[in-house]
Amino acid sequence: MIKIIEDYFILETQDTAYIFKKDKSGILIHLYYGPKVALDLNSLKALENNIEHPIGNNIVLSKDDPLTLECVHQEISSWGKGDIHNPQFLIKDSEAFTSNLFTYKTHEILDSYEYITVPSVKDDLKEGEVLKITLEDKEANIELFAFYTVFASTNVITRKHVIKNNREDYITLKQAYSLNLDMMNDSYNLKSFHGEWNKEMNEYNQKLSIGKLVMESTIGVSSSRCNPLMYLYKDGCSLDNGECYAFNLIYSGNHQEVFEVDYNNHLRVQMGMNPFTFEFRLNSGDEFEVPEAIMSYTNKGFNKMSLDLQNFVRNHIIEEKYRYFPRKVLNNSWEACYFNFNERKLLKMAKCAKKLGVELFVLDDGWFGERNDDTKGLGDWFENKKKLPHGLKGLSKGMKKIGIDFGIWVEPEMVNENSDLYRKHPEWALRSLNHSHSVGRNQMILDLSNKEVEDYIFDSMCYVFSESNCSYVKWDMNRNFSDYYSETLPKELMGELQHRYYLGLYSLMKRLKERFPDILFEGCASGGNRFDLGILSYMPQIWASDDTDPFVRQKMQYSYSYGYPMSSLGCHTASSPSTASLRRFTLEDRFSTAIYGAFGYEIDLREETRKSKQIIKKEIEFYKSIRDKLVTSDLYKIKNDECSCIVQSVSKDKTLSLVTDKSYLYEPIKSYANIQVKGLSDDYNYKVSSERHEIDIKMVGGAINMVSPIHIRDGGLLQAILSKFYKLKEGDFSLISSGKTLNNAGLNLNENFNGAGINFKERFYLDFSTKFYVIEKVEE
Ligand code: DGJ
Repeated sequence: MIKIIEDYFILETQDTAYIFKKDKSGILIHLYYGPKVALDLNSLKALENNIEHPIGNNIVLSKDDPLTLECVHQEISSWGKGDIHNPQFLIKDSEAFTSNLFTYKTHEILDSYEYITVPSVKDDLKEGEVLKITLEDKEANIELFAFYTVFASTNVITRKHVIKNNREDYITLKQAYSLNLDMMNDSYNLKSFHGEWNKEMNEYNQKLSIGKLVMESTIGVSSSRCNPLMYLYKDGCSLDNGECYAFNLIYSGNHQEVFEVDYNNHLRVQMGMNPFTFEFRLNSGDEFEVPEAIMSYTNKGFNKMSLDLQNFVRNHIIEEKYRYFPRKVLNNSWEACYFNFNERKLLKMAKCAKKLGVELFVLDDGWFGERNDDTKGLGDWFENKKKLPHGLKGLSKGMKKIGIDFGIWVEPEMVNENSDLYRKHPEWALRSLNHSHSVGRNQMILDLSNKEVEDYIFDSMCYVFSESNCSYVKWDMNRNFSDYYSETLPKELMGELQHRYYLGLYSLMKRLKERFPDILFEGCASGGNRFDLGILSYMPQIWASDDTDPFVRQKMQYSYSYGYPMSSLGCHTASSPSTASLRRFTLEDRFSTAIYGAFGYEIDLREETRKSKQIIKKEIEFYKSIRDKLVTSDLYKIKNDECSCIVQSVSKDKTLSLVTDKSYLYEPIKSYANIQVKGLSDDYNYKVSSERHEIDIKMVGGAINMVSPIHIRDGGLLQAILSKFYKLKEGDFSLISSGKTLNNAGLNLNENFNGAGINFKERFYLDFSTKFYVIEKVEE
């Protein structure tokens, strides 16, 4: 709800209020962001900080207005008029003058707005309410449109700015953050997520102190090095209590977040395109769309914030069609055969997959050009006839005959030097003729700032998607940017390259989506190197990581859940031992983590044993029976420490919940175990069940003698024989309880093996073991 009371602008969501005011000089002063407050005039006035007198050597606004920008909290900040903090906007005119001051001109309330060059929130649910404020720098003749969109039910407010050059000469944008939030630093801590290939989304926490804390990506993609999702939280904030803010950016390129605390404990938060190496020229009459940012506040802890963001992203970033679209079970060829396949092999793999219930077979890297390893072929988007003698068309027909959908992998933004495309158009790669260029994974980046390149990729992809008749595309991107240089962009505009690349990419994706509305796109960038709201605006899911070790993956998925819904994560069961860690896992270990996402297999299913195939078939049946509910489920965080990581999904109608408890280190003394489940309906009764595991007696070694009538020597012949015919069984685990009891008292588990004997009701929480619980509503 947007309310305007005299000079106060009030943006209210279900639980929060965001308030600012226009002062007598037209500066927008930020007053408050937190839980709802009273909105009578006296109470609004009480939110103000009355700084009437200039302090010491501070700069004041003008002779008539003693406002000291250094001391006030501003909605929009710029440079050169007394504010000493990092400015939101830094604009240079053609005479190199950089002082700016934006003041209020008009405002209006809109139902929606649409922007063209960069993705922005979707509001087909007609939930958003938009406040548009037009500001101007009268002296510089520059206009600034500030949009605030309020999404009440998920407590999200988005920020978007457009700059218009009304001068006759050009201006150069040096810095343009999407969000500027000034407030007092009240013991805030920053939670951010960092990593690299195979270890995305590690959580870091640190306390803000005097000075600037800068988070950023400079590698040309939103990156696994620093995901744009940020949490700011007060001391003591926990999973289910306490105050926090969250921020994220709808953009896929270099980004920067600045948390600046000054001597007065004034905190400025900024988020947006990274100004490092950026500039953008606006000629007379040009407009620049600054990417949109989102922000949210709660005083109910990290889980509440996570759920609000998960729901916001599902409803307002992901396109409508895929919001409630249960994902098909897929089998991807990459880890199953890498570059080593041909049509016969693929069809055999697909046949076996189909028998087990798989619905979509995805052909990954290696099917095009001279691509037999990663040194060649990128850019040559025509079939490798040695591997696919009947082309994509023939293969796709074969898949159809088997009765399985077909999906295909592409990496359109790249070129290998050893490719026909590079030989023909070396100038299409980002490189400088006067310098040696760097490669990553033997490839270079195509210059998407060049429309000819965009058109080439568009045409090649149209060929690939039509020939293959595919219903799914995995869109990969496997190297970071290095040599930021385009041969076609004028030299004086080289600072625009990185942003122009994304304008080209977004335009390309938009065109392809319009042309192929029925294809489901999955983003990928060596796993999660471009996991962001910009990509999710076009592709409803992203391959979260190449690391499919279920223990590492569960922690990663736990981190992703701070800002992204389950349905947006590509999660597969892969081979054991894990190709990332060489650790061995049961199918249940792997399934019980992969199920919290767009689910599939990365293995050649033909190579599985008969028993494993039966298990896989059952897993797929189970997944299919619940996927309608899974796609919109909320993901709760229960626990994540050095001993275990526990997550829980709860369906929107609260009839189904899954809990996966991954235990890293067995804790022998913890015989009393309880999982604090959440989010169930107080009014329903539930049945909780879990698989009963069988344990090889070799696992318990000499401890078996606590119950065995005859002595069994660890490593002896008797143990070897017994181990073939006899398994230790865990105690059954099944209970019925009311949701109210489970929500408040948690889920009490059977006693854990504790070294004081073996009884057959116990559960074996061994090192690296998984327990998977299904909680279903039962009728009275
Ligand atoms: C990186 C991706 O993350 C993998 O899943 C796979 O598609 C390879 N690229 C193929 O080159």
